Amino acid sequence: MKKLVIYYSLEGNTKFIAQLIAETIGAETLELKPKGEIKRHGLTKYFWGGRQVMTKEEPELSSFDEQLNDYDVLFIGTPVWAGSYAPALNTLFSNTNFRDKKIALFCCHRGGKGKIFEKMKERLTGNEIMGEMGFRDPLKKDKENHAGQARIWAKEVMAKL
Ligand SMILES: Cc1cc2nc3c(=O)[nH]c(=O)nc-3n(C[C@H](O)[C@H](O)[C@H](O)COP(=O)(O)O)c2cc1C
Repeated sequence: MKKLVIYYSLEGNTKFIAQLIAETIGAETLELKPKGEIKRHGLTKYFWGGRQVMTKEEPELSSFDEQLNDYDVLFIGTPVWAGSYAPALNTLFSNTNFRDKKIALFCCHRGGKGKIFEKMKERLTGNEIMGEMGFRDPLKKDKENHAGQARIWAKEVMAKL
């Protein structure tokens, strides 16, 4: 079975979890990178990111070689932005047509997941959702604890296959 962890991460939390999951289950990784994205700090990043979510922006991504339809199992991860997924996933969902895949969803957040998983699932109909997991700013607090949870969860998902 071919396994891929696809993720977007602005500040590293989702990347940290994505890499742990990939190591645990022996998956490849694909980081979604919006072209020309500038790292933003302080409050500016919330206005900049929140506006993109509201306007349902689909940022152009750096091209990737992976043939995504070759994978059977996908873990898809994103930070929560304004109660939803980051705009890079909009681009992913609009440009792929996943069908009959086994998909697990994960997010990183600061305490308010909103309805992120429902929103992701709306874009992934026709696939089997194997699990959902949220991590609260894993790089800021209890890093090792979060890492342990990510490893356990990834194994649980794989055990269901
Ligand atoms: C534009 C923007 C909007 C955010 N909106 C939310 C939110 O609605 N709820 C929440 O719990 N955290 C929110 N956050 C915090 C991030 O989801 C959280 O810090 C996450 O761990 C960051 O993941 P990353 O390091 O992979 O980018 C927001 C962050 C940004 C930059």
